[in-house]
Amino acid sequence: MTTINTGAASNGVSAEQAEIERQLTDQVIASFDGCENPRLRTLMQSLVKHLHAFIREVRLTEAEWNSAIAFLTEAGHITDDKRQEFILLSDVLGASMMTVAVNNEAVGNATEATVFGPFFAADAPEIPLGGDIAGGANGQPCWVEGTVTGTDGNPLPGARIEVWEADEDGFYDAQYADGRIAGRAHLYADADGNYRFWGLTPTPYPIPHDGPVGKMLEAVHRSPVRASHLHFMVTARGKRTLVTHIFVEGDPQIEIGDSVFGVKDSLIKAFEQQAPGTPTPDGRDLGDRAWTRTRFDIVLAPEGC
Ligand code: BEZ
Ligand code: FE
Repeated sequence: MTTINTGAASNGVSAEQAEIERQLTDQVIASFDGCENPRLRTLMQSLVKHLHAFIREVRLTEAEWNSAIAFLTEAGHITDDKRQEFILLSDVLGASMMTVAVNNEAVGNATEATVFGPFFAADAPEIPLGGDIAGGANGQPCWVEGTVTGTDGNPLPGARIEVWEADEDGFYDAQYADGRIAGRAHLYADADGNYRFWGLTPTPYPIPHDGPVGKMLEAVHRSPVRASHLHFMVTARGKRTLVTHIFVEGDPQIEIGDSVFGVKDSLIKAFEQQAPGTPTPDGRDLGDRAWTRTRFDIVLAPEGC
């Protein structure tokens, strides 16, 4: 039998009661002993250990247990192929960021990872270098450029860069009912590992909060708003896939707090404001519109790190 420290604490209960509770935990943990998949066995036994410890620690009432089941049921009902309430729940509990942390150990100067979020789409259009990801989405134009290299400093020509972001009204394309594809694209780094594209200057927006996760945030007086950001997923042969964002230096929401705990100092970038009429890097005519520019040099860790 696998021995797991069940961490039974007295929590003010009698020794006899503590023993009853400890025996139940032991019994449930032992029920997984026959599982031949060692990883699954570890996951299930550890889950039971921590879940039971939580129930004992807070002395969970039956009414609270019923509320939790109702909450999860509601999360299930609102979830479909466009809305993923369980990812939101994981995000606001910091479970997503903890999973990112344990799976993306720091390697040299490799760019830090952050939360994936629910709005990536695998079929975003390809744009050429210098192309525009907006696809009609509203927002202030933003010139984004940088390099993709390995931790050895060598450029990674052909690295695939996926980018996606909300429009200035705070919505991703998938949140509109008209099937539009906007604010997302992929492109490839050139022979020197350089990339550049037009995006939108990121603005703060709330995570979807019209469901049970939103109700929970409201009940605990937490804001659903995310710090302004632009998502990246970068892949290159032999390198660890990087899922990250860049955040806007000076965005007050960074200080107030990001609802999903995604901000890392190294990912905060200057988005320099450019007055109307300032020449653009590629000669694009933006008329009387102001725009911004930013630089994001991406360093990928070796695969398997
Ligand atoms: C987002 O970045 O779009 C996002 C991340 C986590 C939850 C909801 C939205
Ligand atoms: Fe986002």
